[in-house]
Amino acid sequence: MTQSAPGPSVLEMIAAKRSGHRLGAGDIQSLFSSYLGGEVGDEQMAALLMAICWRGMDSDELSGWTGAMVGSGVRLDLTALSRPTVDKHSTGGVGDKVSLVLAPLVAACGAAVPQLSGRGLGHTGGTLDKMESIPGWRAELTATEMLETLETVGCVICAASPELAPADRRLYALRDRTGTVDSLPLIASSIISKKVAEGTGALLLDVKVGTGAFLPEIGQARALAQTMLELATAYGVKTAALLTEMDTPLGQAVGNALEVSEAIEVLHGGGPTDLRELVVQEAREMLQLVGLSADPKKALDDGRAWASFSAMVRAQGGDPDAALPQGATLHVVEAERGGVLWKLDAKDIGVASWRLGAGRASAHDSVSPGAGVICRAIRGQMVSRGDPLLELVGDEPSKVGSALAALTQAIEIRDDPYPESPKVLERLLPQRDGGAGPN
Ligand code: URA
Repeated sequence: MTQSAPGPSVLEMIAAKRSGHRLGAGDIQSLFSSYLGGEVGDEQMAALLMAICWRGMDSDELSGWTGAMVGSGVRLDLTALSRPTVDKHSTGGVGDKVSLVLAPLVAACGAAVPQLSGRGLGHTGGTLDKMESIPGWRAELTATEMLETLETVGCVICAASPELAPADRRLYALRDRTGTVDSLPLIASSIISKKVAEGTGALLLDVKVGTGAFLPEIGQARALAQTMLELATAYGVKTAALLTEMDTPLGQAVGNALEVSEAIEVLHGGGPTDLRELVVQEAREMLQLVGLSADPKKALDDGRAWASFSAMVRAQGGDPDAALPQGATLHVVEAERGGVLWKLDAKDIGVASWRLGAGRASAHDSVSPGAGVICRAIRGQMVSRGDPLLELVGDEPSKVGSALAALTQAIEIRDDPYPESPKVLERLLPQRDGGAGPN
């Protein structure tokens, strides 16, 4: 009887990757089983992750790596829903409350949006932290509750269950501790494995570019978007991507309850123009992906999107009409001279908001729902000396000093007019057609 040769050991895989060789899909699959089974240690996986950071992965390896992450847990089946499914993933930005409006808006237009979201770590906020400022709202849903809400309301915003891509959960925590987060194939496989496991049929990627973004440079952002597009498409998820500008906060509110309140303004047909326009454009993209022709602008203005939001919040135990937690005004940053506001820096404002209590420094910290920053003026606006520019809000006056320290370079006022700048910088589609699965 012939026996198949045993696969490479983890040490051989580390050495192979370190030398720039490719890893086979079957070997990656057994590596993941051994890692989750405890036979391969964190230190060995960390060494391999570091080798991947240096050497990268080709498209077959990336597909194999992603498949192993998806296969490490359950894969939801949303095909029994009566609506087409479409989700959105944003790489995260300052004041990015788009999901709060977009999910109910797209639901109001006839699709189902399974928006599995995370909590914030660092200067960009997390969608779950924002939603949790709504009294009674609950992020954890059972699979049955999620499916029921998707069918009846058309959207959920909830935490991903621990059974979805559990390997990613462990690897992400390990990458966070070993300086291996910043790898394009590892980021792409982490994001796309969760979307494939959640079972969405279509996906819009919003890859942010600019000072407040995870990847500030447009070249890096484009490369990440293109990699994710090809990967998701190979897994049969119909995908499009937008590169959107994140040099200045989106909308005027930064911080959990402040952002919910601004999202509610948009759901009532008002709110800041940049936010409203981006939401409408993203809704159009998502509807196009699933072949629906409803007009999202109309659904915002006639109250249907608000009705979907209210129904979703109620289905998750919350009261959409309840008063939101409010912090006190702790300090107002004023214009030092008159002129045109050329810079209101996203990253600096995100860090200030985080330091006021809106964000957490480590995964187990809690957040202060009422804390954050309100932009009293927007980039490109004429201001006079003494005009309020930023309002710092929170519960702890002792935090104002460190928030202000983050803002020393955040503002620039000049005499010349600010040029028109679009929020959507590029729209990308996959370069090759997807098949039924990875090759
Ligand atoms: N977000 C994820 O989900 N994974 C990454 O690796 C980076 C950002």
